[in-house]
Amino acid sequence: MEDLYKTRKDYDKHLLLEEDALNNPIDQLNRWLLEAQEAQINDYNAMVISTIGKGGYPHSRIVLLREATHHGLVFYTNYESDKGEEIALNDKVGLNFFWNHLERQVRVTGVAKKMSEAESDAYFASRPRENQIGAWASPQSKPLHNREELEKRVQEVTARFEGQEIPRPPHWGGYRIVPHYFEFWQGRPSRLHDRLVYQVDADFEWCKIRLAP
Ligand SMILES: Cc1cc2nc3c(=O)[nH]c(=O)nc-3n(C[C@H](O)[C@H](O)[C@H](O)COP(=O)(O)O)c2cc1C
Repeated sequence: MEDLYKTRKDYDKHLLLEEDALNNPIDQLNRWLLEAQEAQINDYNAMVISTIGKGGYPHSRIVLLREATHHGLVFYTNYESDKGEEIALNDKVGLNFFWNHLERQVRVTGVAKKMSEAESDAYFASRPRENQIGAWASPQSKPLHNREELEKRVQEVTARFEGQEIPRPPHWGGYRIVPHYFEFWQGRPSRLHDRLVYQVDADFEWCKIRLAP
């Protein structure tokens, strides 16, 4: 492997100036998501979500963003997973998107709320059958004795629902992150990057602030 201290690259593909950034951060996020999709970035809708565990340590993992609207940012998971249990104790979360090829990062903080049962049902019904079976079969984040145990559970669930529509498991559904802070980061030469923060001001309007890189 190359010496990590010698690995160095300059960022010079784009700029992020106040006058070009949209006034609403959700619109700006959707603009960058579209550009990431157009740049054919793999899993362009992947984001890191960090939750706080009982011991006070943050835990991070990747999930897929399914919706970004003025109501919030949506992803789906198992409510009984580690992340689900952590959100139940502390609903404050951090999100991070990184599009390497575009030299861009977005940071978000907000509060996670469970989606309604009807919203989760509708999305669950649209998923491929194999994924629906997986949601019943996998006790996400719990220990398994071996791979065979998981495969046996998949076979059991497949047999149980044969010839029927698969309902959403009660422990599976969406969270909507209602954001109150965004930072858009655009890499620039000589580490003089652009960083634009959006925060809600006293009039409940989004305002933009530039941070030093
Ligand atoms: C590209 C990618 C996409 C993923 N998407 C999801 C997702 O949308 N929902 C999910 O529950 N886990 C997803 N995962 C798996 C999570 O990163 C994680 O392993 C899992 O949710 C268990 O996390 P936890 O034990 O901290 O709850 C994804 C992983 C990767 C690498």
